[in-house]
Amino acid sequence: MDCCSPGDSPFDRQFDARHAAQHLRAYRQKGPVGLTRALIEALAAGGIDGHTVLDIGGGVGAVHHELLRSGAAAAVDVDASRAYISVAREEAERQGHADRVHYLAGDFVALADEVGPADLVALDRVICCYADMAALVGRSATLARRRYGLVYPRDSWLGRVGVAFLNAQLRLSRSSFRAYIHRTAEVDAILAAHGLVKRLHRTTLIWQLALYERPAA
Ligand SMILES: C[S@@+](CC[C@H](N)C(=O)[O-])C[C@H]1O[C@@H](n2cnc3c(N)ncnc32)[C@H](O)[C@@H]1O
Repeated sequence: MDCCSPGDSPFDRQFDARHAAQHLRAYRQKGPVGLTRALIEALAAGGIDGHTVLDIGGGVGAVHHELLRSGAAAAVDVDASRAYISVAREEAERQGHADRVHYLAGDFVALADEVGPADLVALDRVICCYADMAALVGRSATLARRRYGLVYPRDSWLGRVGVAFLNAQLRLSRSSFRAYIHRTAEVDAILAAHGLVKRLHRTTLIWQLALYERPAA
């Protein structure tokens, strides 16, 4: 894929073919690492045979590839970066489950009406790329039948300084892409309003993992 052809979105420019190829190489060498691994384990805990997965902003697809290998039946990956969609599909073919993944390129919030519910919904380091967190989290929460997991930056002073520095660099390089720190309490409140109960919370210096469940009716 060419970088930066007319019509490319800020996501296509930020997460371009070079970036996607590097990330794919790292995934092939090491598999999922850090809180991505912890997110996958939390989503898969207790067995997920036959479950469906919605991976929003899946990148190279670590979350859906691993969940499909752990027994999930099918997955949908919606990603605003076409380069990432392309490498995630290539990796699904290599792992032999491309026929069980539906790839949709574009902004999930704009495409949400085309996406069906799933047992497991994941947003791994996605909401930090998106200004309208309430729409992204709210629309995706309505689609989660069982579990909803996300990894996003802690709303600490360190995270705020890091994001301010990153955004200054982006401004200098004339990129219109921006990173965001969203408040944990606001994310929690939106998910609670959609009937999801927080079951797990883990932090590193910069990131946090939160896993929610929909209580059985
Ligand atoms: C930092 S990357 C993370 C990729 C992968 N989840 C990971 O953790 O390695 C953020 C990803 O989220 C995608 N993204 C951000 N906002 C999105 C939205 N509203 N709809 C779809 N994809 C989105 C970007 O295109 C990008 O692929």
